[in-house]
Amino acid sequence: MNLGGDFELFLDAIPGLLIIDRYGKVIYINEQCADYIKVDREKSIGRYVTDVFPSSIMPDILKSRNKYNTCFYFQDGRMSISTQVQLQKDGEVTGVLEYDMIQDINALDDLLSQYAEKLKDEMAYFREQVRNFKSTKYSINNIRGSSPKVQALKYQIELAANSSSTVLICGETGTGKELVAHSIHNLSSRAFQSFVKVNGAGMAESLIESELFGYVEGAFTGARKGGKKGKFELADEGTLFIDEINQMPLSLQPKILRALQEGEIAPVGSEEDITVNARLIVAANQDLRKLVSEGKFREDLYYRLNVFPIMVPPLRERLDDIPELVETKVQELNKELGKSIGSVEPGVYRKLREYNWPGNIRELYNRVEAAMNYANGDTLRMEHFNFRADNSKINLDELNQFDNPIEAMKKEAERKLINEVLMRFNYNKTKTAQYLKISRPLLYQKMKRLGIEL
Ligand SMILES: Nc1ncnc2c1ncn2[C@@H]1O[C@H](COP(=O)(O)OP(=O)(O)OP(=O)(O)O)[C@@H](O)[C@H]1O
Ligand SMILES: [Mg+2]
Repeated sequence: MNLGGDFELFLDAIPGLLIIDRYGKVIYINEQCADYIKVDREKSIGRYVTDVFPSSIMPDILKSRNKYNTCFYFQDGRMSISTQVQLQKDGEVTGVLEYDMIQDINALDDLLSQYAEKLKDEMAYFREQVRNFKSTKYSINNIRGSSPKVQALKYQIELAANSSSTVLICGETGTGKELVAHSIHNLSSRAFQSFVKVNGAGMAESLIESELFGYVEGAFTGARKGGKKGKFELADEGTLFIDEINQMPLSLQPKILRALQEGEIAPVGSEEDITVNARLIVAANQDLRKLVSEGKFREDLYYRLNVFPIMVPPLRERLDDIPELVETKVQELNKELGKSIGSVEPGVYRKLREYNWPGNIRELYNRVEAAMNYANGDTLRMEHFNFRADNSKINLDELNQFDNPIEAMKKEAERKLINEVLMRFNYNKTKTAQYLKISRPLLYQKMKRLGIEL
């Protein structure tokens, strides 16, 4: 068979092209194929195909009921994929044509990784859609800051996401506990399932019970027809986030413990238990251990919750994150308020670092928002912030730990004043005492009591 001229060129461009007649004899083999399987092209013509290429399945295809076939084959340790086509004329098999779809499968790696990249992008897109749908607003990317404390926090979030243990998130108000809970869910294998939130505070006991565990029809007056599913059930296969667990009434705590230990809940008014598989994340804004010692929280539940504790650090312990947090918030508010603030005066950051942020990031964000409302140009300046009101630097949470917060505050004020005056008079005690209108011995006494170095 001689196709001649350009046609031969076209045929040579097809990898592994080999044609046999109805008797299994080679009638055509292109240069590329002969090279690939290492045979002499001229000498192959007219020979039985398995004499040329022992593992060929072409003879089988002559007898096959299927016109097309695709298979793997090995050649010199390389794996390839070839396709065989039964040639027919007037309903009779006249031969088989074979060519390689892929020679050397390693070349597939590139193709597969291109495809994997595309799939990854698509996954990210759908993840986002599902996240919006499931109402988990935040992901780990929303956690800003690069201080060691935040890096450690993110690491813990990743660990928690890869485990199915109950997570106890502790931290002061406004530190981002909710953000952490969302992030864990979104990174976990349950990300495509529901994220259900319930708050332990501000609800009557009976209401929380039916909220958490649901109720059956006729459970109480006013109960909805057909009953109502509880949050535990709604979070089945997903994540249940109980915020402010510290406020959970003592009477309900055993039921939560049981749900955790046996995976079973009893809807209000129901005789039968329901099995649920909800991953639990709880948040507390008070020290649970302290509540246990005061008899306000059950010890057994505390231990069952405390398997994977995560401490969210207060803002005053990661002041270095302030610029990044402020910039993020400014960008966000630019869009919301239609402003175009591009920079923040360095003095502002210095000042923001001096405050001790009892309300943490929430408070910082509120302060930034308030300042943004005063700013007209492209820079956020000192005068846009109401800094004077913050001179008190009172940390309410810290102060609250004292038996007598007013006394503690007075003592602190006294210490500050004496320190200032000492500094002003270069640590001359006589002048300091005179300025404060007290005797020198009294000054010494006070300094000793307040722990000021002599
Ligand atoms: N690391 C962070 N990066 C960016 N924003 C944060 C960060 N942490 C918290 N925020 C933001 O601060 C605000 C308060 O966070 P969140 O509601 O999660 O606090 P919380 O710890 O649950 O407080 P509370 O105990 O009062 O409920 C939210 O607007 C949140 O988006
Ligand atoms: Mg919260």
